[in-house]
Amino acid sequence: MTVVAVGPGDPRMLTLRGRQALESADLVTGFKTVLDVVAEWCGNAEMKPMSYRDQEDVLEYTAAQAADGKKCVVCCWGDLNVSAAELLARVYRRAENVELIPGISSIQMACARSGIAMEESLFITLHRRDGSESALSELEHYLGEGKRNIILLPRPFDLMPAQIAADLVTAGISGDRPVTVYQRLTLEGEQAWNGTLAECAAITEEFSDLSIMVFPRPVGGNH
Ligand SMILES: C[S@@+](CC[C@H](N)C(=O)[O-])C[C@H]1O[C@@H](n2cnc3c(N)ncnc32)[C@H](O)[C@@H]1O
Repeated sequence: MTVVAVGPGDPRMLTLRGRQALESADLVTGFKTVLDVVAEWCGNAEMKPMSYRDQEDVLEYTAAQAADGKKCVVCCWGDLNVSAAELLARVYRRAENVELIPGISSIQMACARSGIAMEESLFITLHRRDGSESALSELEHYLGEGKRNIILLPRPFDLMPAQIAADLVTAGISGDRPVTVYQRLTLEGEQAWNGTLAECAAITEEFSDLSIMVFPRPVGGNH
């Protein structure tokens, strides 16, 4: 089995190696939104979309096909090393030999758009099974420390940018702190919102589930 990370949404962001793996695949699986990104590269492969409800069954079927000698590809969004551990674990439970083909993450796109360097940044995700409390307290801690830019993946749909900003201000982070929210990076309708934490907390319009927040390191912050 091969896991191909498809990039942040625009099909042109798929790597050449990922495209080769898809072109020679017998079976390609992944969540429907992910398969839509790569459909044009999948040649005659059997396309097997999965949902949260049937993912175990679909992966079971995929593993059986792989054991039969078929070339099977599981697709994941963005990069496979970024907030995708659960899907990878499900694949590893069923296959010993797994090739991983990385992709471009939404966090790399956010860095590219905002011009910040990864080595001066910290990445935190609220997409966590074990609850988001520890991630939120880490976020407060590192924002307070001010040494690094922070790139944050909100949690659709209950911990989105306005709520996160409001919680941070309540926790004592200055409402004047700048923040950028990127929505739908590389996709149609891509947007960037810039403002302060207090302004973000006051936003009542809904954010896309494809949203990412960037908190730049304060000017003159520690290096
Ligand atoms: C479960 S995580 C998977 C991240 C993915 N593996 C990656 O590398 O981008 C999904 C979250 O990533 C962020 N995301 C993914 N693609 C995005 C995009 N095109 N624009 C903005 N945020 C995106 C959103 O916060 C979304 O809820």
